[in-house]
Amino acid sequence: MAKSSKKKNDVLFIGGLVIAIVVVLGLSFSILYNDNFKDSDNDTNSNESKDEVVHVPSEEELKLEKLENINEKLDFFKMEYIDRYLAYKEKNPNLDIEKIIVYVNIGLDQQFYTNVHDSPNQDTNKILVNKYNKLASDFVPSGLEEINPNYSSGKKMLERNARIAFENLAKDAQSEGFNIRAVSTYRSYEYQENLYSNYVKMDGVENADTYSARAGYSEHQTGLAMDVDNKVSAYTDFGNTREFDWMQENAYKYGFILRYTKENEFITGYQNEPWHYRYVGVEIATYIHNNPMTYEEYFVRFLDK
Ligand code: DAL
Ligand code: ZN
Repeated sequence: MAKSSKKKNDVLFIGGLVIAIVVVLGLSFSILYNDNFKDSDNDTNSNESKDEVVHVPSEEELKLEKLENINEKLDFFKMEYIDRYLAYKEKNPNLDIEKIIVYVNIGLDQQFYTNVHDSPNQDTNKILVNKYNKLASDFVPSGLEEINPNYSSGKKMLERNARIAFENLAKDAQSEGFNIRAVSTYRSYEYQENLYSNYVKMDGVENADTYSARAGYSEHQTGLAMDVDNKVSAYTDFGNTREFDWMQENAYKYGFILRYTKENEFITGYQNEPWHYRYVGVEIATYIHNNPMTYEEYFVRFLDK
């Protein structure tokens, strides 16, 4: 009986041992498996981070990096111009990137009168006419009206809103003792063609281009631009008159901006013209008065969407 009981105990002991071994093996396997699983998780992560480290940037990413990734900050950045931006930056290494984008968007990386488009915003006071944006030969603005002859030299026409704004300006100036008179306003394509070709005959193309627009490229054809004098001095002397100072302080309140200044000649392509004003409306004129810039710069920053 004692013998068989010992045998039974032995069997139980061996059985227990087998179970214990199985449990220990099972646990070890499970731990090992989990570790491996975690490792493989980590592997995935480390592969990702390795990927980041060895990430080969695309050609486009490299170009954007050279432009300080400014596309993320400027909504007027144009991806399709990226090569032009880079070429312009190479030629102008000291220019800040934002200016590079603005200038290329204007078209300054190309010669004047090349890469020409139809003027945008036609028949609105937001129209852009310059050496890259032209009007058709048959473009005539709607709503041309004659200016009150008290404020013009002979019969002169402006687009209705510009006409009203100019008359208010001239009336208020007069009440303060300043004479501001429109001497050249709307000009047809044919008129401008004649004018420009006379200047070319007198002065040659290169010189004429610095002060006269070619036909189709003149703001005067929009009915929103005018040249003024003070009734006494030649309009070309307007910059030396007290009326000019008055205009510097007040023109924006009526929606007018001075369009061609000496420091902006490289943008507009024209010499200083203290007598040439453009109606853009009070909101835009006020913005430009407070943040001096050309209409070209304003246009590409805020209107060229
Ligand atoms: N004088 C200006 C630029 C014009 O001809 O329109
Ligand atoms: Zn003019």
